[in-house]
Amino acid sequence: MQQDRYSLALRALHWLTLLLVIAAFASIELRELFEKGTDMRNGAKWIHFQFGALVFITTLARIWFKYQNPGPEMIAVAKWQANIAKLTMVGLYICLLIMPILGMIIVAYEQKDVSILGFNMLNLGLAKDKVFAHQIEEIHETLGNLFLFLIVLHTAAAIWHHKILQDNTMMKMSLKP
Ligand code: HEM
Repeated sequence: MQQDRYSLALRALHWLTLLLVIAAFASIELRELFEKGTDMRNGAKWIHFQFGALVFITTLARIWFKYQNPGPEMIAVAKWQANIAKLTMVGLYICLLIMPILGMIIVAYEQKDVSILGFNMLNLGLAKDKVFAHQIEEIHETLGNLFLFLIVLHTAAAIWHHKILQDNTMMKMSLKP
């Protein structure tokens, strides 16, 4: 039978991901309010690491649930629109997975003594490499901008479907009982 919504697990994980991504972006931007080396700045970064790592775990869970039950078909739209939608989706999943991995590589090579969801990267026993860590940090920041662009595109498309086309695209992700 054709489903009209994603499974409850996928719907819940979608909105949880949104909250976690907002928290990851907000915490790293807010660090700028505090002087370098202060506890508040380090605290903001620590929060960023935890939320970022949670995004990674949540995304792995989403991929697993999607594999079990992919959910409803995409509604019929022009081929170019379907292609952009698919590309945006793949791009979003790549960012959700790669951003945290790059972040963890930065922390590991900077040899930061910090616990990320209970794991300290120092336990990996890697040699400190500040130059490599800095190169990865540049990629992490650039990919962050691409990620924001994809989020805006994805949100604009969802609003377009809901308000202008008035189809059931948004309903597929709704948490309403
Ligand atoms: C969805 C997940 C993530 C997003 C969207 C994200 C986003 C960002 C952004 C936008 C910046 C640059 C801020 C700026 O300079 O303007 C940044 C910096 C950084 N992020 Fe992430 N990040 C994520 C996950 C992680 C994770 C999991 C870690 C490590 C465990 C991490 C470690 C870092 C580090 C070390 C910096 C540089 C901070 C500094 O030294 O000031 N990120 N992140």
